[in-house]
Amino acid sequence: MSVHPKHYLFCPGPVLVAPEVQLALIHKQICHRVPDFEAVIQNTQQGLRKIFGADDRYTVLLITGSGTAANETTLSSVFGARDKVLLVNNGVFGDRLETLLDIHEVPARVVRYPWGQPVRDEDLEQALREDADITAIAMVCHETSTSVINPVSAVGRLAEKYGKRYFVDAVSAVGGEDLDVVRDHIDFCTCSSNKCLASLAGVGIICVKRSILESLPTAKPRNAYLNLHSLYRFSEELHQTPNTPSVTMFIALEAAVKRLLDEGLENQIDRHRRCARIIREGVRAMGLKTLVGDDIASNTVTSVFLPQEANLAAFITSLEEQGFTVYPGKGPLLEKNMFQIANMGQIDEDDCRRFLAVMARTLERFT
Ligand SMILES: Cc1ncc(COP(=O)(O)O)c(C=O)c1O
Repeated sequence: MSVHPKHYLFCPGPVLVAPEVQLALIHKQICHRVPDFEAVIQNTQQGLRKIFGADDRYTVLLITGSGTAANETTLSSVFGARDKVLLVNNGVFGDRLETLLDIHEVPARVVRYPWGQPVRDEDLEQALREDADITAIAMVCHETSTSVINPVSAVGRLAEKYGKRYFVDAVSAVGGEDLDVVRDHIDFCTCSSNKCLASLAGVGIICVKRSILESLPTAKPRNAYLNLHSLYRFSEELHQTPNTPSVTMFIALEAAVKRLLDEGLENQIDRHRRCARIIREGVRAMGLKTLVGDDIASNTVTSVFLPQEANLAAFITSLEEQGFTVYPGKGPLLEKNMFQIANMGQIDEDDCRRFLAVMARTLERFT
């Protein structure tokens, strides 16, 4: 269902959405303070709880905004000057968490790795042993900028063992990777609507332990809008949001969550895994190298190098003109001619093969 010729989004968000998600955009005009919309919020929260693996100790809060809105709401509402966050930084999105903590003046001890390198949980354990001031751990699950999957379960065991709060930015992981807030001892887990949940951009999502919300400081919040406490209060008392939400995007998300659960979370993750495998085998068959080994790579993003002499910007533009969007790498990885092929959203194996055929022909012209 589209009035436009099909354009394939092989970028890590926004993603292609299913027809039923697009159709959800044409809904009856509705106010956000009525029972019908409260039901949209409740259905979405209930579905998302299953996708996060959450039990009754958790709730899911929705905020109009992007993934960063979910991250900033959580970090700025929960942590303060008396905390010290042990932060993992091995890519662009670890870096962004560092910036958020810095802006909100939350002390941090940062464990850094070169972009593309895996995290060693022993390093974090050593920091926890050395530094009794640490109160929390923060880490990105899927470091989208490099395709690396960080060891969420192992670090969760450390959080449990040392009694620390655990924040996981799973913006590009929920719905695409094996993640379970209960099993992984996660206290706060963030996500956005427009990656592996396969909806449209505009809703930030926070899965969080109720006990923490009950004890949040309320005296002087740092933010009026990005405020976890008021989001929680409105959700609990009214099944609403404190401010006007993007009604249409909430309705689209409800449809996307239903679609995902109809496909089945495991089935969707398997589909992503199969697609990533096809893409990786395909680019290697073209003689291209990937940034990270398959053992630490995500199910949804392949980071691949074009030969140094090839014009990456022109290559990406050519693919775009042929109906396929891919993503340039960031920072030092862009300098090395890296780009990213994502297989999030409504993409299947045939789409991946179609893309690879076009990419192979395009590559011949650029190398
Ligand atoms: C892991 C991760 N965290 C945070 C973000 C920021 O999300 P947004 O651009 O939706 O604010 C992204 C975006 O790609 C991401 O991949």
